[in-house]
Amino acid sequence: MRQKIIIAIDGYSSCGKSTLAKQLAKELLYVHIDSGAMYRAITLYFLRNAVKFDKEKDINDALKNIHLSFLFNNVSGKSDIYLNDENVEAQIRDMVVSEKVSEVAAIEQVRHFAVEQQRKIGDKKGIVMDGRDIGTTVFPDAELKIFMTADIAVRVERRYKEFYASNKNITIEEVKNNLEMRDYIDSNRAISPLRKADDAFVLDNTNLSMAQQLKIALDKVHEKLSNTNKHSKVD
Ligand code: DC
Repeated sequence: MRQKIIIAIDGYSSCGKSTLAKQLAKELLYVHIDSGAMYRAITLYFLRNAVKFDKEKDINDALKNIHLSFLFNNVSGKSDIYLNDENVEAQIRDMVVSEKVSEVAAIEQVRHFAVEQQRKIGDKKGIVMDGRDIGTTVFPDAELKIFMTADIAVRVERRYKEFYASNKNITIEEVKNNLEMRDYIDSNRAISPLRKADDAFVLDNTNLSMAQQLKIALDKVHEKLSNTNKHSKVD
């Protein structure tokens, strides 16, 4: 049987990481895990239960009560996240969660909690995981690492369209401020900040169609797969 690999996709907010991850998973029959959804679901739990972000004991107690799981949704063609068996895929995309998620994702215990689960999910390979620290911390040995970028104006427009579908009151400025704030916090936090892994391939999709970005990424996958197969024959 064809060897399965781990594909790690990292990058700034709203670069299209999840879109590419979903495309690749569909094409390769891999599992796609949106690691940002895990931080968002934890943030939703913290907000609902008024957990204080600076109280270590409250955070530890809260994490003990959080169970996260993913279930494939045939309609959307992607996995939905469940927080204690409740499908929270829609709620975690709300602006209230977006405004707090980077703060929650910078908390040490939260990162340990999420990274441990992400590594377990990746045990069997055949996975595409997107996030901020997948190639640097979660899977430093991933066979393929992609670091995605796109111009800020393009990213703001993409995210604005997504938000506008469910919230007509949102403004472009609010979306831009949120993206810039999250990029700043994500890149400057003490633990596993967002950065390109040294061995990551950079994919700038500012001027690429979805089909074009998929083709570039698939070429990389096939290159890696043929190298992996060659090495396993020699070994
Ligand atoms: O990919 P996203 O925008 O849904 O991620 C939400 C937040 O979660 C993002 O601002 C930073 C954080 N995050 C992280 O710190 N590490 C990851 N691997 C994924 C997301």
